[in-house]
Amino acid sequence: MKVIKKAVIPAAGLGVRFLPATKAQPKEMLPIVDKPAIQYIVEEVIESGIEEILIITGRNKQAIEDHFDKSLELEVRLKETGKTPLLELVQSISRLAHVCFVRQKEPLGLGHAVHCARRFVGDEPFAVLLGDDIVVGEKPCLKQLTDMYNEVQSSVIAVMEVPEKDVSKYGILDSVVERPGLYRVRDLVEKPAPEKAPSRLAIMGRYIIEPRIFSILAEAGPGAGGEIQLTDALKVLCAEQPVYGMTFQGKRYDVGDKLGYLQATVEFALARPDLSDGFRSYLKNICKELS
Ligand code: UTP
Repeated sequence: MKVIKKAVIPAAGLGVRFLPATKAQPKEMLPIVDKPAIQYIVEEVIESGIEEILIITGRNKQAIEDHFDKSLELEVRLKETGKTPLLELVQSISRLAHVCFVRQKEPLGLGHAVHCARRFVGDEPFAVLLGDDIVVGEKPCLKQLTDMYNEVQSSVIAVMEVPEKDVSKYGILDSVVERPGLYRVRDLVEKPAPEKAPSRLAIMGRYIIEPRIFSILAEAGPGAGGEIQLTDALKVLCAEQPVYGMTFQGKRYDVGDKLGYLQATVEFALARPDLSDGFRSYLKNICKELS
């Protein structure tokens, strides 16, 4: 039986939707309350039982590598000043997992970024997680996918039903129902107009993919937006071998979008024991002023 041992996190995109914040710093380092978005993703990988992680970075992304490295000066200072809880917090990040990095030399698209992981992955099925989607739930979203992979032994993509007006923001499935919550993909359409969408099942940023994708990506040309698209390669893959879409339990936040980012920030802050009381009463006052 094949098992998933490796995860790839593409983080080399330009983050245009978050300019000017992303002009000189990675979008993945923007904090949700006080933790960079990419740390939530790395924690989800670890909680799903995967320890080998590759982050695809690019220009202006040095801060991601620094975040998962030791910070010697900071650690010395925190030790000297007796700030033990903060010292432990900082040290725990560099001990989280064995994280490797590869640079995508040019942001030629998500498919191209995934192709940069081929040496790290080799000839095994692997996970891909996008930092734009943070999912909160009892069981990590990636664990739900790996459990399904263990059963079907074929590529599995996380999907979610979205409102009709939003289908043009996503890759959309043309599929047949295998059983409730599991769909066999017949085709994929990238960002269709609502009247042309084959369904409202949208691809979210979690995938388990068979290694055959690398040879498909090696031959892929530019697709929508002039970028090498992962969705286009998955289209080819699903014509050759089973690819499944799976709905997942948990609440998903689109933190690559400004409104989604603000929603995540508010809800994560409300869920934090050290912040919730003060923040809740602040929000109540604001709501009174607005009404
Ligand atoms: P997005 O389409 O969200 O692109 O990529 P982006 O550049 O990060 O953000 P916007 O749309 O310009 O605001 C989805 C994921 O693919 C990665 C991104 O880092 C993100 O995690 N990506 C995209 C790459 O790693 N390389 C690329 O060339 C493109």
